[in-house]
Amino acid sequence: MAYPLTLRRLRQGPIVRGLVREVRVSVDQLMQPLFVVEGLRAPEQVPGLTGVHRETEASLLKSIEADLKKGVRSFLLFGVPGKKSSRAFSPEFTARQIAAIKRAFGEDLFLAVDVCLCSSTTHGQCGILNDAEDHVENGATVEALAHAARSFAESGADCVAPSDMMDGRVRAIREALRDVRGDRTLLMSYAAKFHSKFYGPFRAAADSAPKGGALKDRATYQIDPARPRDAFLSASRDAQEGADILMVKPGMAYLDMLFRLSRKIRQPWAVYEVSGEFAAVELMAQQGLISGPQAHVEAWTAFARAGAQIIITYGARSAREWLKQSET
Ligand code: PBG
Repeated sequence: MAYPLTLRRLRQGPIVRGLVREVRVSVDQLMQPLFVVEGLRAPEQVPGLTGVHRETEASLLKSIEADLKKGVRSFLLFGVPGKKSSRAFSPEFTARQIAAIKRAFGEDLFLAVDVCLCSSTTHGQCGILNDAEDHVENGATVEALAHAARSFAESGADCVAPSDMMDGRVRAIREALRDVRGDRTLLMSYAAKFHSKFYGPFRAAADSAPKGGALKDRATYQIDPARPRDAFLSASRDAQEGADILMVKPGMAYLDMLFRLSRKIRQPWAVYEVSGEFAAVELMAQQGLISGPQAHVEAWTAFARAGAQIIITYGARSAREWLKQSET
């Protein structure tokens, strides 16, 4: 070689480093999760998720207003109804929040809504149990999910996002949406959603932890972390059934999946930086072990590099500030 390989020339200063960057994270691609809890009297900080609250109906709108001022325009809403049941679910509480958000902010925001039953069931499973309570019934659950998705779309949701992992729910929801803004309502599927221990802080926020009984966890419907092929099958099926956007979840521990899936299936890919991975960074930062803002931006950069367009993160509302702090 004529010249020694001198890579440090391009690392000299912030301007040249900015010029040669291959991926960039921007607030435009971030989605902020929101929790709204029926009957709650005052907002409650979610343990581990700095800056995120379980919101009341009124505080929800105030939070969104503040987020819009910080440049966040996409949201993922989780409705937590006060009344739990084992079979008869009403999407009414969440539908009402969607309508209120759309009435207040209209086209200023993009509103995705999580579709699952885990915050509505007495037992905390993501669906309807059989009589022996040792199995989540696929058919009955899909029917209840499609009903909820339809009601959310009617209330003005821009996107419905099923996170339950039942078979055939994408097709059933697409069909249920046919005559309710079916050509306008996006469907984002939690397609490669793994059976992970990193969902802990979320389950406290959404009041959705499995409460014991014969089924102790969600292993009979979420993907085994040791089965990447299952994630391929799930994602290609959901794409065929009519999903507009596909998702990998969690993020950091599944970057290989995001990388491979996003190259194989050419639809927009979202990644969910889940509660446990977000909280891990926050806890280290609180212990003075790392810089939280810069560590979050580093994780988001890894998601973009691996192939995500959309990043769902509890830090979206802090992103403008954190991205600035990371400009070095
Ligand atoms: C509901 C749902 C979960 C998450 C999103 N939707 C939890 C679960 O499947 O147990 C996790 C999000 C997070 O941890 O931030 N099914």
